[in-house]
Amino acid sequence: MDNLWYKNAVIYELSIKAFKDSSSDGKGDIPGLISKLDYLCWLGINCIWMLPIYPSPGLDDGYDISDYYSIDPAYGTMDDFKELIAQAHLRGIRIIGELVLNHTSDRHPWFLDAKKGPESEYHNYYVWSDTYKKYEDARIIFSDTERSNWTWCDECGKYYWHRFFSSQPDLNFENEKVREEMKRVFRFWFELGLDGFRVDAVPYLFEREGTDCENLPETHQYIRELRKIIDEEYPDRILLAEANQWPEDLIKYFGDGDEFHMAFNFPLMPRIFMAFQKENSEPIINIIKQIPDIPSNCQWAVFLRNHDELTLEMCTDEERDDMYNLYAKDKRMQINMGIRRRLNPLLDNDRRKVELAYALLFTLPGTPVIYYGDEIGMGDNIYLGDRNGVRTPMQWNEDRNAGFSDSKPSMLYSPVIIDPEYNYNAVNVEAQVSSPSSLLSFIKRLINKSKSHMVFGNGYIDFIETNNKKILAYIRFDNEEKALCVFNLSSKAEAVKLDLQEYTGLTPVELLGGSAFPVIPENENYIITLSHHSFLIFMLEQRDNS
Ligand code: GLC
Repeated sequence: MDNLWYKNAVIYELSIKAFKDSSSDGKGDIPGLISKLDYLCWLGINCIWMLPIYPSPGLDDGYDISDYYSIDPAYGTMDDFKELIAQAHLRGIRIIGELVLNHTSDRHPWFLDAKKGPESEYHNYYVWSDTYKKYEDARIIFSDTERSNWTWCDECGKYYWHRFFSSQPDLNFENEKVREEMKRVFRFWFELGLDGFRVDAVPYLFEREGTDCENLPETHQYIRELRKIIDEEYPDRILLAEANQWPEDLIKYFGDGDEFHMAFNFPLMPRIFMAFQKENSEPIINIIKQIPDIPSNCQWAVFLRNHDELTLEMCTDEERDDMYNLYAKDKRMQINMGIRRRLNPLLDNDRRKVELAYALLFTLPGTPVIYYGDEIGMGDNIYLGDRNGVRTPMQWNEDRNAGFSDSKPSMLYSPVIIDPEYNYNAVNVEAQVSSPSSLLSFIKRLINKSKSHMVFGNGYIDFIETNNKKILAYIRFDNEEKALCVFNLSSKAEAVKLDLQEYTGLTPVELLGGSAFPVIPENENYIITLSHHSFLIFMLEQRDNS
């Protein structure tokens, strides 16, 4: 049973670099995170997703790995890592790390050797070509910085293939040695106690002429091999897919329950923002109806924001234009095919919209993922390059450097947020922990209340027909429980008539406060009124009303 722990988890995504610095060098580290585990425990999360901690030149914030078997010394030692796992497990928190299969850094010793030419034993670890006129149907992902997926290597006299920055040459998964090597990496970290991996950039492992080089059958085959290792040797560990794809391709990564345990719901995420923008429930309803059921041992990871841009790749051109118009008017807010802003700035720092977004996150099907800092409503800095504006130091208190580090402010890996609206003097953990009306306290309550009902992690969803498109209403249900969730996406107060005939005689009991509402009557619609951008989540209970 415990092997399905991920179905009812609350995941907290963090970057060690940005979380807490214990050594006063201006960069967060593992001992820093250990010192904050009690905070995460207090918040109620039970799984940390940790961004890459491997040695790296840092040209893609650690996703350009130069050694898969150790830790960047700035973050700590292997002993620190083991201590982190032990301390987290003591508190009932699991830790998943990053498995970057698709590419290495161009400074990885394999690539440095591979460049010498075909005589190098590592040459075939990468994808080489005499011409750049190959795999031309593959899109360019980092379209703001890269002109081609091929880059010329003077030393080798050939082009090498890369789906991301040119400093990240793709590994050649046709080569069995590469496939075996990455299995070794995988086992190495499991042996150290890691509870799973978020697998980076999954769709791009293999290339095939005449295709877009995404989601190829060989990729699925390799994932099945990784999953087999888990099932046979590490049955309580998980794999979480980063596959930014349309529903039909995305769900294939669950296979028949024999590939990924979890996958990020990329198609759903932008539609939550569209629903806000249009004040209309249809974008959410339509996309969920388009997504087929997944095997019972699989789970969606639902998220609002993460360390990357809010990607708009799974949107039509029209949807994308609408999103840019509303959420990224300033060009600096745009990057590649997405928007590089944090949650609160996206939602106008409007507390009601933010709470509504979290209520969706915790009640839509899947396991919620919170991005560090978003639980206190941190701002961003669009003047920093790449996606760094959403990767600034965690704001712990109003002390120097927001309590993130004792270093000189100029030594910080990134400036802290000081713009008035989001200044760390006011937006910080310490201030919000002690305030029952803070965003942080709200999120803690939501986590606590929703975690006590398995239906949110396990159950199915049924949308309820309403007479008002501005209201989104659904039932989450399993064999044991039923929850009724109603959201007003409008900036005005609204009333809605809900057809709840299937639930006649049940009493809606509000999740956060526990008040009982009138029993659902027979042969009558149930009328609910909601003030602007507000929501109600009810558990439907059979009570003795006599
Ligand atoms: C994933 C990561 C992103 C990184 C890219 C290349 O999309 O989330 O941060 O830049 O892979 O590794």
